[in-house]
Amino acid sequence: MSSELTSGSGPALNEYYNASQLRADSWSRLKADSARLAAAAASADTSSLQRRVAETMAMLEPIEIYWAFPGRHNFKHLQRLFELGEYVGMSRSIARIVRSLMSNAYRHKAIPLGLNGETEEQEDADSVIESAEEVAHQRPYFEILVVDNMTLGQEQALRHSLRKMRRSEDQFIYEAVIVPSFEDAVIAVLQNHNIQAVVARYGFSYRSVHNFALLHRSLTRIDERHIADLQSEDYGIALARVCETLRPELDFYLVTDQSVEDVAGRVPQNCRRVFYNQEDYVELHLNILRGINKRYKSPFFSALREYARQPTGVFHAMPISRGKSITKSHWIKDMGEFYGLNIFLAETSATSGGLDSLLDPHGPIKEAQELAARAFGAKQTYFVTNGTSTANKIVVQSLIRPGDIVLVDRDCHKSHHYGMVLSGAQVIYLDSYPLDQFSMYGAVPLREIKHQLLKLKKAGKLDRVKLLLLTNCTFDGIVYNVERFMQECLAIKPDLVFLWDEAWFAFARFGPTYRQRTAMHCAKALRERYCSDDYRETYVAWKEEFDKLDPEDEATWLDRPLLPDPDQVVIRTYACQSTHKTLTSLRQGSMIHVYDQSFRTKVEDAFHEAYMTHTSTSPNYQILASLDVGRRQVELEGFELVQKQVEMAMVLRQAVASHPLLRKHFRFLTVQDMIPEEYRKSGIKKYYDPEDGWTRIWEAWAEDEFVLDATRLTLYVGDIGIDGDTFKNRYLMEKYGIQVNKTSRNTVLFMTNIGTTRSSVAYLIEVLVSIAHELEEESADANQAEQRVHARKVHSLTKELPPLPDFSRFHGTFQPGGDDSTGEGDLRTAYFLAYDDSKCDFLPIEDDTIDKKLKAGEDVVSAMFVIPYPPGFPILVPGQVVSPEILEFMRKLDVKEIHGYRPEIGLRVFTKEALSEEAQKN
Ligand SMILES: Cc1ncc(COP(=O)(O)O)c(C=O)c1O
Repeated sequence: MSSELTSGSGPALNEYYNASQLRADSWSRLKADSARLAAAAASADTSSLQRRVAETMAMLEPIEIYWAFPGRHNFKHLQRLFELGEYVGMSRSIARIVRSLMSNAYRHKAIPLGLNGETEEQEDADSVIESAEEVAHQRPYFEILVVDNMTLGQEQALRHSLRKMRRSEDQFIYEAVIVPSFEDAVIAVLQNHNIQAVVARYGFSYRSVHNFALLHRSLTRIDERHIADLQSEDYGIALARVCETLRPELDFYLVTDQSVEDVAGRVPQNCRRVFYNQEDYVELHLNILRGINKRYKSPFFSALREYARQPTGVFHAMPISRGKSITKSHWIKDMGEFYGLNIFLAETSATSGGLDSLLDPHGPIKEAQELAARAFGAKQTYFVTNGTSTANKIVVQSLIRPGDIVLVDRDCHKSHHYGMVLSGAQVIYLDSYPLDQFSMYGAVPLREIKHQLLKLKKAGKLDRVKLLLLTNCTFDGIVYNVERFMQECLAIKPDLVFLWDEAWFAFARFGPTYRQRTAMHCAKALRERYCSDDYRETYVAWKEEFDKLDPEDEATWLDRPLLPDPDQVVIRTYACQSTHKTLTSLRQGSMIHVYDQSFRTKVEDAFHEAYMTHTSTSPNYQILASLDVGRRQVELEGFELVQKQVEMAMVLRQAVASHPLLRKHFRFLTVQDMIPEEYRKSGIKKYYDPEDGWTRIWEAWAEDEFVLDATRLTLYVGDIGIDGDTFKNRYLMEKYGIQVNKTSRNTVLFMTNIGTTRSSVAYLIEVLVSIAHELEEESADANQAEQRVHARKVHSLTKELPPLPDFSRFHGTFQPGGDDSTGEGDLRTAYFLAYDDSKCDFLPIEDDTIDKKLKAGEDVVSAMFVIPYPPGFPILVPGQVVSPEILEFMRKLDVKEIHGYRPEIGLRVFTKEALSEEAQKN
């Protein structure tokens, strides 16, 4: 079929990142072409138009079988109209389909397509635009996937039977998509985000009869282990397993003609019911609705809404509650108008009764947290109303006692550094690989972590090592191979605890590619693997080979993958997510997810205390309700939203790479730019190339040490001679109202999120094109002096980038027992020593005062966290020795904001006397 190479008369197929993009474009093209065909005079030569329509229909046919609307039956009818030359009727129906797909009208009403003899007036009834309230009150719609080999007639009968089950009191409404094979089912669940439940019957085959490359890519997602030696009677169970790995939120129902008891014992967790020879649809229908309702319900949000409706008198310390202090006011009524009354009606506290308490949850908050744990794959989930800044501190405090050793990436969020101070940890800072040319860091290589752990092992300190703390993904989008990192670290220290800062990664669970690199997913996968007999065998064989090598030689450990001992390993994993950063939640809504086999026995009490330490006794209930609803959303449409978020990012990449003017001035940094080759086993260099089209990112995500989150787009602006900060403020914000989060000297970071629309992407492209025109004009009008200034600026931004300094070392005073062999430092002692002004001095960095001291062999020791923005991580921490490289970096920094350093006063350092006095105490 031509669809392998081209998409009708549209762009080449490899221009499409996925089939949903192709589907949307094809319908639009079909609408335009069919309208022209219908309008053409009888005498006109329409052969090329006819060919285009035929090609587009051929392109859509294999895609449409995975969607309930317009459905296989209606699509066939369109094809028939086309063959009969009934272009007017066909064009009208196509227009209606497109309108309905765009407006989502098909989700809540039957769309008359004129295919069943409806009049034009009847058809136009669906054009009435509904109000927001009407839409809000409509029953949510979804689709179920039925996997069975049926004729068109049988399919119609099944659909009819399921529709007959509908009752007015049903909360939801659904339609069925019916596919005949295992492969089609996998394609359907990956393509059609409307699918919420799968019903696998017993008559389906394995292979799909279609062979459409764009769709068949989905099949590479099938884990070979699930289909090895597969017998046809086990297709249903295997499909359940595959669905569980791809979309674990889906409810799976198995209809079998074998012994139900036997089958029920072998099905995975996502299989909600096994039916025997199901012909009675009532049970199935009720189960399907119940399954959706389990995800739909949001106990805390419901309880809060209920509370808001109750008439209560407030004799309690909260005048804003019920809005009274606002509605009665003569001066602040506008606040009430702006927010509306509900937000105040819902203002409450645990002590005012009726609702649960965050500090001691037993009711709807507890239930909401349990549902969140299910959704995010955790064993326990805790809501936090003061952001991941607080979540991080809670976890660190609950796991760490003074003196415990913690390994932490130095460019982590500042909440961790403060967490270390609070808990009294002995900190070992890990250096991420630097990206000097962009003034940013990558992530910490596995080799570096193994090296540190082995050093600690050699020094006999492994028992004091408690926690490894890493940021996944980083602000700039570098994503760790979480499973491999945990596996290899556990081989050295089998009870190591991991805290993955997933502040930017809450959404990741809901995309199958992303999910495999999330902490909770990997913790579960590793636990299951280490319990299996297969793993035990693998381990024994590996150990036998490993024992032949020299264990004293570090290379033995560094140069090969290590496997943990199944008899010793314990999975102890924590993740903190800023739900508010990437999912629906009010600001500060955050979650702590726990997958710790020792939580109940070793951590729970300490966790409770740490939670009490950091949680307000007046938590914001609106934030909690938004976390509950945010969870509902991702369980029902997270897959779709993440898919679109990635798609939008890819559209942006494609636009900038292929637009002649844009590619002349700008480029998005590629995987190759941001991840050195040694960490990319897959060899993948970029996600999109104008010549080669799209890369398959699945393989890279399965294997590579680091991958790039596609939804982070770092625009390189060094070549246009504008620094990141100026580009952000003067161009994007002031002129065009575009907000971005982060810049470096020569880059600006854009992110797509679950709210990004095609229009907002189009707007950004438009803005970049306008800026590019402006640059063209400026360059054309520049006189020689201006050209020289510009060239100097470009040179400075592209060539004169100060190398990012490594962590130097803690001063001996702050190294326990003066032992500097393993590098851990006592951040807390240094931090509090700096409270005493008499122990500190200020040294200028512009002159050579510090250089002279360093040359004379004197240690200059920082008393502060010194954090320049950007890059936003400390280049000095309390107790850290200033190195010539750090000094050089500070001097070359041209940022205005440096926390912990005031140029007019100088760098705050400890006096020599303070250091020796403190050293004597130890
Ligand atoms: C990696 C990382 N962790 C934690 C935080 C803090 O999160 P929050 O803003 O939810 O307090 C941030 C904030 O930007 C972050 O980038």
